[in-house]
Amino acid sequence: MDTPQKFSPLTIALHWVIALSIIAMLGVGFYMSINEYYPLYDWHKSFGVLIFFVVLVRVWWRVKNGWPVPVRAYPALEHRVAQVTHWVLIVGTVLMPISGMLYSGLGGWGIKVFGWAMVAGNKNPATGQTEPIHAGLAELGEFTHEWLGYVLVVAITLHLAGALKHHWLDKDRTLLRMLGR
Ligand code: HEM
Ligand code: HEM
Repeated sequence: MDTPQKFSPLTIALHWVIALSIIAMLGVGFYMSINEYYPLYDWHKSFGVLIFFVVLVRVWWRVKNGWPVPVRAYPALEHRVAQVTHWVLIVGTVLMPISGMLYSGLGGWGIKVFGWAMVAGNKNPATGQTEPIHAGLAELGEFTHEWLGYVLVVAITLHLAGALKHHWLDKDRTLLRMLGR
């Protein structure tokens, strides 16, 4: 369990595995979608589904373990901004894979996870066109996946700025604690 002085190895491992994966997924997602680079789509989906399971473990651990206690007393506003940002980050990491799966699965594009067809594509044999299984939910997935992507970029930038402020300006142990020191 976490203490104000030290985080448990599970908290630290889950934070960094998910942090690095989400940053990579955002980069790959925007890159492939802006450039319409289709060879990356199946890789993006495969890793996205895999990350979803790690995210579920993280949420379970966060509920069981509680939110981090600050290393020292911060001004109330600063504490609030950090709390809201942590919520946006954790909810964002849950909703990104779900919305991606809704978009791909119910949009009829299918979801292949490392070659295994988790959800089959839905091509109309007569026309050869991809048809949605549920157009409304697929559109909701598409909208959420794109816009939450932008929200996460802003939240991660704020979060990183906060971590560096604690380390360099306040010179406290916030970042060191997340690094296991
Ligand atoms: C794990 C977290 C994930 C993150 C952070 C993420 C992030 C992103 C981002 C930022 C984009 C570009 C959005 C746009 O401009 O439209 C994108 C595109 C896409 N993502 Fe994800 N994604 C994740 C998981 C998934 C999953 C699990 C799937 C499907 C199983 C998926 C399917 C797609 C598809 C099909 C696109 C292309 C959209 C288009 O070209 O219009 N993503 N992703
Ligand atoms: C860019 C590099 C990153 C750094 C340097 C960093 C640093 C930190 C630090 C120092 C804490 C502890 C805060 C405290 O003690 O109050 C923390 C917590 C947290 N970070 Fe990050 N982080 C990074 C990226 C991310 C990313 C990409 C995400 C998610 C998308 C994320 C999600 C969280 C969450 C939800 C917490 C709350 C505690 C927890 O659930 O483990 N972080 N981060």
